[in-house]
Amino acid sequence: MARIMNLEELEQDALKRHIPVMQKEGILFLIAQLNEIHATTCLEIGAAIGYSAMMMVTHVEGLKVDSIEIDNERYQEALENIEKRELSSQINLYHEDALILDTDLLKNQPYDCLFIDAAKAQYQKFFEKYVPFVKEKGIIIVDNLDFHGMIFDIDHIKNRNTKQLVKKIKRFKDWIFNHEDFDVNYYAVGDGICVIKRKENK
Ligand SMILES: C[S@@+](CC[C@H](N)C(=O)[O-])C[C@H]1O[C@@H](n2cnc3c(N)ncnc32)[C@H](O)[C@@H]1O
Repeated sequence: MARIMNLEELEQDALKRHIPVMQKEGILFLIAQLNEIHATTCLEIGAAIGYSAMMMVTHVEGLKVDSIEIDNERYQEALENIEKRELSSQINLYHEDALILDTDLLKNQPYDCLFIDAAKAQYQKFFEKYVPFVKEKGIIIVDNLDFHGMIFDIDHIKNRNTKQLVKKIKRFKDWIFNHEDFDVNYYAVGDGICVIKRKENK
């Protein structure tokens, strides 16, 4: 039987196969945030092959993660990865488009943390759909907000699709930074991460 890869090897293997997994710096930041608030529940949008979910539950004591993945192949691979490492009691996977998932199915709601790491053009929709399932004092973490620095220089992007996507990310960033109900802290970690919290008086 093949040896089970450790999570570092799994990350390297995913990168070799061009499966987008969170950058090391980013995942360590996420874990630190979860530990700081003593999180016991997290909802992840975008499981890919389960790397970040497995990193979270192995580095945050008592954490349960519900994670949604739209792509069948990745979902199956994530299931297998999680089962092999005997982490199924800590991670629930959902094979569905997060925008149409029936939220009654979410096992560990309400959540201490909502982590959005799926289709960047849909960030605002994910946020609006799932923020009601975040605890009053919970946090929302959004990754990839700089889009390889392109967000700071949209006029020079030549590819039309990329330009549209970056504009959408910028629209989300502007929307959330100016939202009257939320406070946002931006961190230049990995590809740009925001930690969002409800305002105290809201
Ligand atoms: C950046 S990857 C996630 C990486 C993962 N969080 C990690 O670090 O190991 C984004 C994933 O979101 C999935 N995705 C995209 N749109 C989605 C949607 N509407 N609902 C659920 N998953 C989606 C993609 O198939 C992809 O696997």
